[in-house]
Amino acid sequence: MFDIPAEQNTSYSLLVTQVDALCRGESDTLANLANVASLLYITLTEVNWVGFYIVRGEELVLGPFQGKPACVRIPFGKGVCGNVASMKKSLMVNNVEAFPGHIACDADSRSEIVLPLFKNDELVAVLDIDSPVPERFTDDDLQGLSDVVSALQPLLDLSQLLYHG
Ligand code: SME
Repeated sequence: MFDIPAEQNTSYSLLVTQVDALCRGESDTLANLANVASLLYITLTEVNWVGFYIVRGEELVLGPFQGKPACVRIPFGKGVCGNVASMKKSLMVNNVEAFPGHIACDADSRSEIVLPLFKNDELVAVLDIDSPVPERFTDDDLQGLSDVVSALQPLLDLSQLLYHG
């Protein structure tokens, strides 16, 4: 359906349009998250893992992703994802080895960016992107990915993800 050559400079406005095209009209949230993980994985350069962790009570549980198999459960406050879940704020980590408590799912990862997703004001998931390149992510990536998340959130019925198991 999508055949997208990786480009050095990501067009986040194009990504927002593609996210809209993929998800609008499809009501299954899990399927939409799976497609968005794939879209980001094939579009962004120098990334080795892209995926979502879903809030389950006081921990995050692995959701749709692209990349190597990853740790399934991350307690709030642990690792980069767990800190984002606790603080409800995005984190950009230039050097994962210097981040206290970083959880190394893929030994190739060197830098990482994680953004929260909300249903109304409730945290429901985080988007996690890893790179094998140190300092891969810039403020432009943070802004662009925030735009992607902002476009994605209203297209999802995130209440489908809100169960506590
Ligand atoms: N590195 C993350 C764990 C998830 S993996 O990168 C897929 C962290 O420290 O939260």
